[in-house]
Amino acid sequence: MSMKQVPRSMLVISPDRTVAKAISDAVLSVPNIRLDSEIGTIGSVNGRAVRLLSGRDIVLFQADAADPSELDAIRRLVAERGGKTRFVALADEHMSLAQVRSLTEAGADDVMPLPTQGGDLGKVLSRLGETAPADRKMGHLFAVIQARGGIGATTLAVNLADQLCPPKGRRGGNSKGVALVDLDLQYGTIGSMLDLPEQDALYQLAFDGTIPDAQFLDLSMKTLPQGLSVLAAPSRLGPVDSLSTEQIKALLDLLRERAEYVVADLPHVMVPWMDPVLRQADTILLVSDTTVPAVRHCRRLIDFLAADHPDLPVRVVLNHETRPLFRSAALREASRALERPLDIWLPHDSRAARAAADRGMPLSRVAGRSALTRSIRRLARSLAAEFPPSATSHLPM
Ligand SMILES: Nc1ncnc2c1ncn2[C@@H]1O[C@H](COP(=O)(O)OP(=O)(O)OP(=O)(O)O)[C@@H](O)[C@H]1O
Ligand SMILES: [Mg+2]
Repeated sequence: MSMKQVPRSMLVISPDRTVAKAISDAVLSVPNIRLDSEIGTIGSVNGRAVRLLSGRDIVLFQADAADPSELDAIRRLVAERGGKTRFVALADEHMSLAQVRSLTEAGADDVMPLPTQGGDLGKVLSRLGETAPADRKMGHLFAVIQARGGIGATTLAVNLADQLCPPKGRRGGNSKGVALVDLDLQYGTIGSMLDLPEQDALYQLAFDGTIPDAQFLDLSMKTLPQGLSVLAAPSRLGPVDSLSTEQIKALLDLLRERAEYVVADLPHVMVPWMDPVLRQADTILLVSDTTVPAVRHCRRLIDFLAADHPDLPVRVVLNHETRPLFRSAALREASRALERPLDIWLPHDSRAARAAADRGMPLSRVAGRSALTRSIRRLARSLAAEFPPSATSHLPM
């Protein structure tokens, strides 16, 4: 890796003085940066854009993603930029996935949480310094792993992928869609959860040892009506442990080139080809509950996975449990043992889960309003805000 390059000239556009102030405070701790603030809306700088944007490395702006005239203003501004200027939208916690998409479709390279709402500007700035917009073609990878059998890992993988899909009417165009891959090769159930025909693509791959290519994906992936592409586990048992690290790496590379988001359901056994998954994952979602044995197993699993990947981004998801109003001593203890906040809760909802299973459909189709569906939707939105879909076009429209 080359040296991290620190951005030098930054402009903040926000109608809110406290936001501009929070950013300039945060920037004080970052060396070599010059910051200018513009208090106003994104539309109010049109006309002065060329002068304001010239020589900027980063433009941070706050815009109302629900307002078409603000989106137009972003498009006009992005069209005026020089090659290296990066546009970063500031999102508040109420922003929906659809709004995040509108911002990136209008030309934002990135969307980050407002610094006043816990966004870590220092981290974001160093991340922004690392990659130029043109390098951001690859989709984000979220991997799901379980603390014990039957805890709901596959349910989360399927429904997270479903909730990351762009809503109806926003499909096509710029969006590259979402891919779901069942890497629980021996016992995978994604195919039956989504009522897909049986197929043996991954079995063949393990059997003949070839490196997957675009044609392999075309033949083996099924696309559902909601725009989700699925690669199911093989329906027959086979030499799946013999899949190589190279094969899985190539598979993930291909999927990430094609899709905005890739969600992978991992096996419960540790296999040698886990390495490329851990290397490429933006987030690993470890599904558990708060029982003592599950928490202990999570701890062991995190230690095991992190042995070769010290910065592994593991988050714990508590399934079958409702977020408690008050944290008990036991919960605080669990959170301490795991060295993580316990802030992702998916309630138990057997009616919704059963309806989805019976119909072979994602929860959103059969129980859109259930508490379980809504919790997974909220998780999808927060992941999408943190890992925004990559901007697909930098050309003026
Ligand atoms: N929050 C929930 N509320 C009610 N039922 C749930 C919930 N999450 C999952 N289930 C149900 O629990 C069962 C097991 O779920 P799932 O297959 O997702 O678990 P898993 O961890 O992938 O299991 P496996 O060990 O078989 O891979 C399924 O019948 C599913 O519908
Ligand atoms: Mg499973």
